[in-house]
Amino acid sequence: MKILVTGGAGFIGSHTLVELAAAGHETVVVDNLSNSNRKSLERVAELTGKEILFYEVDIRDREGLNRVMEVHRFDACIHFAGLKAVGESVEKPWEYYENNIGGTLTLLDVMRKHGCKNIIFSSSATVYGDSAIIPITEECLKGHCTNPYGQTKSMLEEIMMDMQKADNEWNIVLLRYFNPIGAHPSGRIGENPNGIPNNLMPYVTQVAVGKRPELGVFGNDYSTHDGTGVRDYIHVVDLARGHVAALQAIEKNCGCAIYNLGTGQGYSVLDVVKTFEKVNGIKIPYSIKPRRAGDIATCYSDPAKAEKELGWKAQYGLEEMCRDSWNWQKNNPNGY
Ligand code: NAD
Ligand code: UD1
Repeated sequence: MKILVTGGAGFIGSHTLVELAAAGHETVVVDNLSNSNRKSLERVAELTGKEILFYEVDIRDREGLNRVMEVHRFDACIHFAGLKAVGESVEKPWEYYENNIGGTLTLLDVMRKHGCKNIIFSSSATVYGDSAIIPITEECLKGHCTNPYGQTKSMLEEIMMDMQKADNEWNIVLLRYFNPIGAHPSGRIGENPNGIPNNLMPYVTQVAVGKRPELGVFGNDYSTHDGTGVRDYIHVVDLARGHVAALQAIEKNCGCAIYNLGTGQGYSVLDVVKTFEKVNGIKIPYSIKPRRAGDIATCYSDPAKAEKELGWKAQYGLEEMCRDSWNWQKNNPNGY
């Protein structure tokens, strides 16, 4: 298929480009580079041995998108473009709503005007809020999002579902990611956070490389096996392959389909620290800090639906995730 990849220069987008190429799909990337670097696309080209067709266009720029879609006829769009920092979204809610919701509305409109009504959307486990049911299935009710970032994901899901109800030519696949970490095993592409990392694994790798003195563990009094928060970490290469698998749903005219992309296995913060230390032979100094506002104790998926319907299942475990995150960080201490 020929696929428009918005946000393709970013962390998950760049890994997905590699897997799409391996599966024989053709891609065109649109990204405004607000949180990425075109070097990631050069690295993808190096890994795939193919040029990447790239347009530096903002998805809020209707004319820019029109120009791309006048030149290319797409079978589907995989839509990664968006802002994703939870804390920043609390400080700049308007910017998050305008970029994520405004941008996606423009994208959807330009797509339908060009007759492309197939989209795979990057949603998040955050839409479940603090789920009463663990592991979380797609049937679980959506919960309360405590921040504007999460609200944009939840609202965009609703908007796309309503559009699909009104026009059944649309096929919409909502992929709810759990916690993507890891990097391509080559160490050539990976996560490149700006400033102080908000998420656990980039923080751990920056401690490992000597950029930060120690990890703060946010709370050890949760009702989990060691008191620290439990999450469903998923290797970004597995996640990327989940998008390739999701194209099957589009091919089968799924209408609206929702899939969890996780491993189904929950690990605590200290499990991650210990596994990282064991696999990479590096000590990660840490100290216990107060709980982070908005955090929940436990969140992990039931990934059975994606396996049953798409034949997709995560292959990598926590050890490979820790190995590949470190391989990326040590080979690229300052990112791209
Ligand atoms: P990322 O920031 O690395 O990639 C997002 C890309 O979108 C960046 O390259 C950025 O420059 C681009 N972008 C942002 N706004 C744009 C705009 N208006 N026009 C064009 N390009 C724009 O983030 P990621 O981790 O690769 O996440 C990809 C998607 O997955 C995002 O929508 C994110 O919310 C979602 N998601 C990520 C996680 C995670 O933990 N990484 C979890 C759940 C969902
Ligand atoms: C974060 C986002 C969420 C997003 C999800 C997917 C926040 C508040 N939420 O959730 O919207 O969908 O990623 O990737 O950012 N931790 C520490 N020390 C740190 C960093 C994290 O102890 O320096 C702990 C956290 O308290 C948590 C776990 O590590 O228990 C994972 O944290 P993080 O990587 O930020 O992911 P989530 O909180 O699951």
